[in-house]
Amino acid sequence: MFYGRITGWGKCVPEKVVTNFDLEKIVDTSNEWIVSRTGIRERHVAGDGETTASMSVAAARAAMAKAGVIPADLDLIIVATSSPDYLLPPVSSMIQDQLGARCGAFTLVAGCTGFVYGLATAQQFIATGAYKTVLIIGAEIITKFVDWTDRNTCVLFGDGAGAVVMQASEQPSGVLAFELGSDGEGAEHLKMNLGVANPPSHKVIDEGGHFIRMNGREVFKFATRVLARSAAEVIGRAGLSIDDVDLVIPHQANERIIEVAAKQLGISMDKMFVNIAKYGNTSAASIPIALCEAMEEGRCKEGDRIVMVGFGAGLTWASAVVQLGVADEHRLAMWRWVPTATMRRAQNRVKVAARTIGLKAGAVVMPLYTRVTKRG
Ligand code: COA
Repeated sequence: MFYGRITGWGKCVPEKVVTNFDLEKIVDTSNEWIVSRTGIRERHVAGDGETTASMSVAAARAAMAKAGVIPADLDLIIVATSSPDYLLPPVSSMIQDQLGARCGAFTLVAGCTGFVYGLATAQQFIATGAYKTVLIIGAEIITKFVDWTDRNTCVLFGDGAGAVVMQASEQPSGVLAFELGSDGEGAEHLKMNLGVANPPSHKVIDEGGHFIRMNGREVFKFATRVLARSAAEVIGRAGLSIDDVDLVIPHQANERIIEVAAKQLGISMDKMFVNIAKYGNTSAASIPIALCEAMEEGRCKEGDRIVMVGFGAGLTWASAVVQLGVADEHRLAMWRWVPTATMRRAQNRVKVAARTIGLKAGAVVMPLYTRVTKRG
């Protein structure tokens, strides 16, 4: 059994920055509304010549340089995206070619959750000994599918790419536990109505079938249902409690969702990594970009245990407990002596459920999803 150790990380975002004040000029919104309801202040938007492949390649090169691997070392490339350059060829093959790698490559579509799905998938190839070095990328130019006249969605999204290199290790490291989830019953709440079931035509385009449409309230409720629950579940699967976790890196969709999850998990916001103010929701790129920034800012370091948790279209969700570097002896000893995973899962889930009931009880006057944290 091998562990998939994360040895490199990198990111790339487009040069162009669109602030909330810029959006005030094109749609009926305000900086105050966007900041107080989402935590977003600005986002990066791809310009001419910037593509999902080009940003992925830049992020991948940074991650590979950090890991000290060259393209010939790569055994597999996994690209999580909902905004590939083309329907065919797969953007993963374009990236493989542009990197100069000679290995398998595939594109994985699981909405904003895609990167964590990719991480868990990469870990399987490494655990079995099939592959030694896997590149996982989360990349989106999602703003190409945003209706800039729809204030419900256009203020939320941004573009970017993040990448990590995962390498085989014999010591406990990398993905210690994961959970993948899907509930297609909620598919209608976050949708782009273009594809085989609704093929491109003048009519479909005139109706805006190529734009992201979202029932924000339903997605908000879904996110506050799954985020903390899934994090608690996966922390338990690793035989840990939330106190053993150094940092939680959640999908950056709405700061209020992250605040609710922190309360449900019983942790302070210091333990949550939040960078949504600068990037908005970059979908599958949000978690690897956040990981990269957390490393750059010293918010997490080799030896730390972090939890990545994503949610999005599908509806889908996924979580992973990741050991950065190799656990030191003291922490390994702690890990060996913790109660079994089954006990931990039960304890963690009960705690989250109890806190959620408490939060809901306190929100009788104002439903959970309409709670607003005022910011300047
Ligand atoms: N600027 C100003 N007003 C806006 C607005 C904007 N950009 N967008 C919506 N509004 C208005 C609505 O029209 C509504 O007005 P009304 O009361 O007159 O009808 C009011 O603000 C409240 O809308 P509501 O949808 O209840 O706001 P909300 O507090 O739920 O926040 C979201 C909206 C989209 C920010 C929030 O629901 C959300 O973040 N949902 C999750 C989205 C998400 O995570 N998506 C990606 C998943 S990967």
